[in-house]
Amino acid sequence: MGIRVLASKKLFSLESKETQYVFKVDENENLAHVYFGNKINNLGDFEDERVMELSSNDSALDLTMEEMSYFGGLRFKECALKGSFADGTRDLKLRYSGYSLINHSPLDSSISKTLCIMLKDEYYPIVVKLYYRVYEELDIFERWCSVKNMGGEKYTIEKVSSGEININDDELYVTNVCGYWGGEQQLFRKPISGASINFESRRGATGHNNSPYFIIDKDAKEDSGEVYFGVLAYAGNFKITCEGMPYGYTRVIAGISDFDFIKVLDFNEEFETPRLFIGFSKDGYGKMSHRLNKLTLNYLSPMETRDDIKKVLYNSWEATTFDVNCKNQMELAEKAASIGAELFVIDDGWFGERNSDKAGLGDWIVNPCKFPEGLTPLIEKVNSLNMDFGIWVEPEMVNPDSDLYREHEDYVYSFCNRKNSLARNQLVLNITKKEVYEYLFMRLDELLTNNNIKYVKWDMNRHLSEVGAFNLREDRRREVFHLHQEAFLNLVSDLRENHPGVHFEACASGGGRVSYGVIPYFDDFWVSDNTDALDRLFIQEAYSLIYPVSYMRSWVTDCPNFYTKRTIPLEFRFHVSMTGTLGIGGNLNKWTTEDMEIAKNNISIYKEIRNIIQRGDLYRLISPRESEFSAVSYVIEKTQGVAFVFLKSQRYAREKVNIKLKGLQEEKRYKVLYDGKEEQLGGDYLMHHGINLHLRGDYSSSIVKFYVEERKN
Ligand code: GLA
Repeated sequence: MGIRVLASKKLFSLESKETQYVFKVDENENLAHVYFGNKINNLGDFEDERVMELSSNDSALDLTMEEMSYFGGLRFKECALKGSFADGTRDLKLRYSGYSLINHSPLDSSISKTLCIMLKDEYYPIVVKLYYRVYEELDIFERWCSVKNMGGEKYTIEKVSSGEININDDELYVTNVCGYWGGEQQLFRKPISGASINFESRRGATGHNNSPYFIIDKDAKEDSGEVYFGVLAYAGNFKITCEGMPYGYTRVIAGISDFDFIKVLDFNEEFETPRLFIGFSKDGYGKMSHRLNKLTLNYLSPMETRDDIKKVLYNSWEATTFDVNCKNQMELAEKAASIGAELFVIDDGWFGERNSDKAGLGDWIVNPCKFPEGLTPLIEKVNSLNMDFGIWVEPEMVNPDSDLYREHEDYVYSFCNRKNSLARNQLVLNITKKEVYEYLFMRLDELLTNNNIKYVKWDMNRHLSEVGAFNLREDRRREVFHLHQEAFLNLVSDLRENHPGVHFEACASGGGRVSYGVIPYFDDFWVSDNTDALDRLFIQEAYSLIYPVSYMRSWVTDCPNFYTKRTIPLEFRFHVSMTGTLGIGGNLNKWTTEDMEIAKNNISIYKEIRNIIQRGDLYRLISPRESEFSAVSYVIEKTQGVAFVFLKSQRYAREKVNIKLKGLQEEKRYKVLYDGKEEQLGGDYLMHHGINLHLRGDYSSSIVKFYVEERKN
């Protein structure tokens, strides 16, 4: 496993437990892709196929599957790299010039050395390096690249992608999501043959629409079929291009969007792209999700909080909105503690003149009318109730009606002779500016130092527009989208360094910041403002294909639901939220004694099983897109698990659903608790015959627990 090089054929092979990725240097010293799929042992079997042009219109370069297709020569397909030299030349001619294996003294021996392939331009002093690493046990490959200017004259990158993936097949389909505020993660699948499809964000953050990943297959299902997938670890403007080539292969190029982007390289400057994680599953989507989930749990999530089990939180936003004060928060805290919440989060409204969304953003100082003695009395109260305290912030933004803006109008992005557009009454701070960054760091650091805050919900309620950044060198101003996301992540990272152990939640008007780019800096995602339990079944299913369950914060809120006006029983709402990291966001002042009992009971069940949910493998047993019933299960080490079964709407005499569990050991006996029964059943029975559950009434739901009982001899 790891990396094998067949020097005689200039062939490079990346190998994990089940998967292999092969490329070679061809006769023109170009890097040609050879293979991606199940493992093949003998590297000598890969034949030296020479790709010829088909006609003067169909060049050999367009027919070749390449590892990094750049703008240059007879290439008409989408390129992964494009730039311009100071003398006006825009054409590149990169040639292979050697490789090295870099030993990172990795923390984990299951990550291979890094293979670095070096390409040099025939004439200009430009060096491009392609990097590859293998997560052997996970069957995941990591790719990125760098561009370095070794000459005295500047080089301007106009596009640089993290990686290019080729699939030696056509007539394929790509899956992604297309969402909007309150309706994130709307799944779709489209044919790619003969076309080029882009998933992109031009907003300065990844946004609610497409998501920075791809899933490509022909006829895959949950447990069958070949699936190629990739996730881009980037928090800003991204672009994923899927191209169905007319020559019988399919390609994907993934990286930073080239929309309004450049990166200037002065002498000796190097630019490194974000990381792209790719994989291949021969057994459908389920395995893909397991591998990505483990990638987060074992490698990508912030190291110092990685092993923390996510607490049950209560957030007071929907109960009190901007109308927060010490007294009403203390009252809610008491109620939250009484049902078993472990973390109390005060949302918007606690700072500056923040009485609505019209004012106050930027003034990160506790409002003295609402909290005359600061936050301390509330935090002490929350702590005395055995809960941690969390707080909402939206640091990148400012309301024109704020002290910050009145004093520093020049802190926002803006162009000359253009009036800035407002969205939710706010403007975007130019955090690439040193003084703005320092102001925000100072205020937030002070907030976290002076108060016992253990959780920060970091919001972003509008996207970037009129991105004039005159602090940047004139020829570098189109780097701003990239620099914004870099400054945002640096700010979080600097705060984390000063306040280790504090959890950060990535929110952007709901799920506008769900991406692998923020995973190394955050502990939770706010997946959607839409908390309607039925809508959530769909949102959460699509989310779970790619993103980790341990990051899927899901609140139980009140009915009729604010967004859909739908009324759904509380038990069902709880069960839907318990399939992720549980939160409660309803107005507890209005909950009846019976509601509080349902809450208490489910929170205590959740605490028993959350380790399995947050750390186990997720199985999508029945999709809500396919049936009135839906079901998911979570299994840890094949020995313990839990399943949630939902019925959206009842049809007469159709209350029975058969649930076939997955991921168990055929020969083991499991204790199974469901429908008020307790049974001893074999793993083979549970997986092949399954159990029958009876769900009655619209929005009914049920939990099944199962585990191998230790034999006492
Ligand atoms: C956004 C978030 C909400 C809430 C409000 C507060 O809309 O998504 O959860 O925090 O801001 O203004």
